[in-house]
Amino acid sequence: MTVHLAAEIWYAKKERGSIVFVAQKDAAMVVDEHGKILKVGTKTAILPQFPAGELRHVDHGDNFIVPGFIDSHLHCPQLDLIGSGGLPLLGWLDKYVFPTEAQFASQNVAKAGAQRLTRELRRHGITTAAVFSSVHALAAEELFAEFDAAGLRLVSGKTSMDCGAPNNLMQDAESDIRDQKVLIARWHGKNGRLFYAITPRFALSCTKEMFRKLAELRSEFPTCFVQTHISENQNEVAAVRDVWKSHKDYLAVYEDFGLLNEKTLLAHGIYLSDDELRRIAKARATIVHCPTSNTFLGSGLFALRKALDAGARVCLASDIGGGTSLSPWQTMLESYKVQALQGTYLSSVELLYYGTLAGAEALGMDSICGSLEPQKAADFVVLSSRRNQLLAERIAKTTSPEERLFAFITSGDDRVVEATYVSGREVYRNS
Ligand code: GUN
Ligand code: ZN
Repeated sequence: MTVHLAAEIWYAKKERGSIVFVAQKDAAMVVDEHGKILKVGTKTAILPQFPAGELRHVDHGDNFIVPGFIDSHLHCPQLDLIGSGGLPLLGWLDKYVFPTEAQFASQNVAKAGAQRLTRELRRHGITTAAVFSSVHALAAEELFAEFDAAGLRLVSGKTSMDCGAPNNLMQDAESDIRDQKVLIARWHGKNGRLFYAITPRFALSCTKEMFRKLAELRSEFPTCFVQTHISENQNEVAAVRDVWKSHKDYLAVYEDFGLLNEKTLLAHGIYLSDDELRRIAKARATIVHCPTSNTFLGSGLFALRKALDAGARVCLASDIGGGTSLSPWQTMLESYKVQALQGTYLSSVELLYYGTLAGAEALGMDSICGSLEPQKAADFVVLSSRRNQLLAERIAKTTSPEERLFAFITSGDDRVVEATYVSGREVYRNS
C-alpha cells in the first residue's frame, strides 16, 4: 500500500444532488495494491492507523492533489489543426478538418497522432477522454492500442460518415458496421478502461441508411456509448432542418433512430430548444459543453444554467481542434467566461466538478473515477505552482482552498502538472 502526502487534496463530490467541495489540509491518501483509494484524511489521523512499514510514503511536499481531469469530447486527428482560424463551423470543416482527417488513412500518421494525443493528455493531467477517431478503422485501432499502452481511460469509436464529406472520408454503412463490430469485439470493456462509442459525426454526415444501421448496432451492443455533435452553429441547425424535414427538430434525428439514452454524449447543444433540453434530460443523456471551441469558431454561448434548469446533465470538454487548448484549466476558465457573459458566475468548485466528476457521470464511470472518494480508482493529478512565479505568489496570499483553486483555474497550464496517476500508477512526471 502507498500513502500520498500533500499540502491539500481537493475534489468535488455529489451529495443528494448537490455539488460538495472536499478540501483536506495536511492530507494523506492511502491507495491499495490494486490502485484503489482506501482513505483520505489528515496525515495525523491516517498515518497512525497503519503499522510502521506497511505503507510506502510518496511525499508530494507543498503540492496539491486533485482528481484526474476528464475531457469528454475531442478529436484525435485534429491536433494539428488547432488554431486554424477564419471560418465558422461548416466552412472550417471543409477547409481544415476534412483534409487533415484524410491523412489518418495512413497507419503511421494514425499511430503517431494517437501517441502524441496520449502524451499531451498525460501532460495536462487528463486521465479519461471521450475521443472521436477518424473514419478509418485502422486509426481507431491505433487509438485504442495507444490508450491501452498509456494506461489512460478511453471512450472512442471510428467516426461514421456516408454523406456530406469528401469521397476519401466516407464509408458505406455496411462496411462501416462490419469494421465497428471488429473494434467492439477487440476493445469494448478491455481492462475496464477502454470502451467503444458509436460515433455518427453529426446529422449532416449520415444518411437514413447509416442511422438505421447504427441504431441496430446500438441495440446489439447496448453497453456501447453514442457520441455526436448537436446544435453547434446556426447555419448547421438550418441545414439540418432542411435535410431532415420529417423530424421535428435536430434532436429528433438522433432520437427517432433510437440513439438517445443515458449513454449518449451530445457535443455543444448551443441552439437546443426548451423542448429538446427537456427530452435530453428525460433520456439522461449528457450535453458536452466545449467553451474554447464555441468562442474560437464563433459558434455561440452555451446556456449552462438553462440546460441545468431543464434537468440536463452537462460536462466539459476541449473539442480539439475546434477548441484551442487541451488544458482543463483553459476549458474551465473559458466556461467561466462564457457563463459570466450570460450573467451566470460559476464557482471554482462548480468548474472543478464539470471538469472531473460530471465527466465521469456522463461516461458511466462515477463509481470508478471523477473524485477521490474511497473505493474509487486513484486517478489523480499532483499540482505545483513552482514553475509559474506569479501563480506561486498568488497562491501564497490566498486565504481559502476555493480561492487557491480559482487561481489555478485562471493561471494554470501544463506547467502546473507535476505528476499524473491512473489507478495509483504514475503515468506522467514533469521532471
Ligand atoms: N460538427 C461535425 N464535425 C465536427 C467537428 O469535427 N468539430 C466540431 N467542433 N463540430 C463538428
Ligand atoms: Zn467535436
